[in-house]
Amino acid sequence: MAISSPATVLCRLDDIPDGEAIEVNAVVNGEDESLVVWRRDTEARAYLNICPHAGRRLDWAPGKFLVKDGVLVCAAHGASFAAATGECTAGPCRGDRLRSVPVAVADGQVVLP
Ligand code: FES
Repeated sequence: MAISSPATVLCRLDDIPDGEAIEVNAVVNGEDESLVVWRRDTEARAYLNICPHAGRRLDWAPGKFLVKDGVLVCAAHGASFAAATGECTAGPCRGDRLRSVPVAVADGQVVLP
């Protein structure tokens, strides 16, 4: 009989101001990872907090991200990512993308299924 593991709660959806992103630390594939968790209305997206340009963190201070109008900007060299898809749309790694971590929203919580 298969035993399903319970979903891991990352945060409450309300912990993330609408249109902004926060950092959440979680174990993903057995590794401790820093995640960028972005919210728009009732949806959330999560990515590893690793820029595809030079492998730096995206935040300008721990847990503080530059996000405006659905665009997440890496604080290191200014690469711009569409927060909804993780695709780099401008900057030094244009065409690359953030590594997506699948998340779901259930009962007002952002979870790793
Ligand atoms: S490490 Fe993000 S733009 Fe260079």
